[in-house]
Amino acid sequence: MQQTDFLVIGSGIAGLTYALKVANHFPDKTVTVITKTQADETNTKYAQGGVAGVMDEEKDSFEKHIEDTLIAGDGLCNEKVVEIVVKEGPERINEIIDYGAEFDKDASGEYALGREGGHSEFRILHHKDVTGKEMERALLDKVATCTNIKLINHCFVLDLLTQHHLGYLVTKATPDICCYGVYVLNEYTQKIERILAKITVLATGGCGQAYRATTNPKIATGDGIAMVYRAKGRIENMEFIQFHPTALYEPGVSPSFLITEAVRGDGGILRNKDGEAFMERYDVRRDLAPRDIVARAIDSEMKRNGTEHVYLDCRHMDKEKFIHHFPNIYEKCLSIGIDVMQQMIPVAPAAHYSCGGIKTDEWARTSIQHLYACGECASTGLHGANRLASNSLLEAMVFAHRAFLDSVGKVNAIDFEEKIPSWNEEGTTEPKEMILITQSVKELQQIMSDYVGIVRTDVRLQRATRRLDLLFEETEALYKATRVSPQLFELRNIITVGYLIVKGATFRKESRGLHFNTDHPQKSDLLQNIIL
Ligand code: FAD
Ligand code: SIN
Repeated sequence: MQQTDFLVIGSGIAGLTYALKVANHFPDKTVTVITKTQADETNTKYAQGGVAGVMDEEKDSFEKHIEDTLIAGDGLCNEKVVEIVVKEGPERINEIIDYGAEFDKDASGEYALGREGGHSEFRILHHKDVTGKEMERALLDKVATCTNIKLINHCFVLDLLTQHHLGYLVTKATPDICCYGVYVLNEYTQKIERILAKITVLATGGCGQAYRATTNPKIATGDGIAMVYRAKGRIENMEFIQFHPTALYEPGVSPSFLITEAVRGDGGILRNKDGEAFMERYDVRRDLAPRDIVARAIDSEMKRNGTEHVYLDCRHMDKEKFIHHFPNIYEKCLSIGIDVMQQMIPVAPAAHYSCGGIKTDEWARTSIQHLYACGECASTGLHGANRLASNSLLEAMVFAHRAFLDSVGKVNAIDFEEKIPSWNEEGTTEPKEMILITQSVKELQQIMSDYVGIVRTDVRLQRATRRLDLLFEETEALYKATRVSPQLFELRNIITVGYLIVKGATFRKESRGLHFNTDHPQKSDLLQNIIL
């Protein structure tokens, strides 16, 4: 059994930002950061476009960034939270610059700001087309200098410890569910251990792996969301899964390589198989309309023309500028035989971001005591029904900071709960056929992509529910009989996440933002968050 004052699950932008802050504030306290594979294998590392922020109030304004966020969110953003993130964001960006992150500048030494769908101004700071990699690098370098941060790789968090593990009946109505730490599977020792903590922070990222085509790396299986749901905490608005319009179309390759929206910000044009720049038929903002609109337009073109992708045309763009801003994309395309100056890039939408998640308040507090959530796993109210591009790195930093502010005042009043028992493995045996797990993962991804994708219907949602029920039953039977493995837990977690997405989508009898159901095409007058 290990004990730590602060336990952070996740080593992406949210987890590392929080860890650095508490570690610096309390040099005498212990901070443990757990990550399920390598420390830098996170959604954060793959962020391309950048981080949105009003860095110069003479050229841009908080009001405009707020307005753009609210428009994208389609009526469901929490306005107070939007204001908090937009106004506190620049300070957080300056902090990560102080940690050593570098953003591109123009010839006059000003930040070279990019623009993406839904933004009325150029306000996106970036590092070429590998912004997340640079931010992750800066954070990890800084963490390496903090002697009171212990970073544990290849350690898989299984479940949150709550009163349930002390033998109490915990139900959704229990008012004071409390988190005492986590059970983990240490992949080096293959042992399941208890880590007790005074404060636990979930920064476990998104759940794109619930879909067949996704830009998210393999780690994005919604573990934190599933853990909170199992612990009877609150989850919100899971139906709002954002599909990025332009993932590189490469059959059989997973995850899908992203072609950042910044390419359209710099002039890239979407075309269908006949070469038509079709976006003008869908929205006056054309290629730079918010993501939900562009992804649906592409989906509609693909269905109408019976194609599996559309094209992104960059042939008219300046080669030198393109290579300067998007070296990674240029190289990737070349590596598969596409010279973007000569040929159009085949692209298709892919699951990209979870706007909903663990319900949190404006201090990143979850519905479970001593448990915070920040980053993509949280539902803060910023994104509403659709996230504005490049707002998530910003949100992660702002809420990691707020979680830090709230938790520093609490930690000294909390004791470790030492009565938590060891994990009980009685009656389980080594898995005989791992193929059962991998096949079920594929099945789940197929169900979600076929029935709970960009365009939904009541019948498709009913089908998805029935098929998920069966997968759930089979997987729980396997879980009861088999020694746990990360693969088995990830399967359980994405089934839970799939169920939460389908449930949210079924309850929402309207079309709004990212949720589009052809049986309920109108927006309801009733503004509601769906809490499960
Ligand atoms: P992550 O960075 O995903 O980190 C999650 C961490 O949790 C990992 O360390 C993982 O190991 C750990 N973890 C998860 N489950 C467990 C478990 N069971 N046990 C132990 N550890 C666990 N947003 C923008 O704002 N701008 C962009 O330009 C942008 N581009 C993007 C491009 C791509 C291709 C993708 C995929 C996303 C992009 N996003 C972008 C979204 C943004 O990158 C993510 O929302 C953000 O990085 C999430 O950060 P996070 O800290 O919440 O989680
Ligand atoms: C992109 O670069 O297009 C992704 C930006 C984001 O997801 O915010």
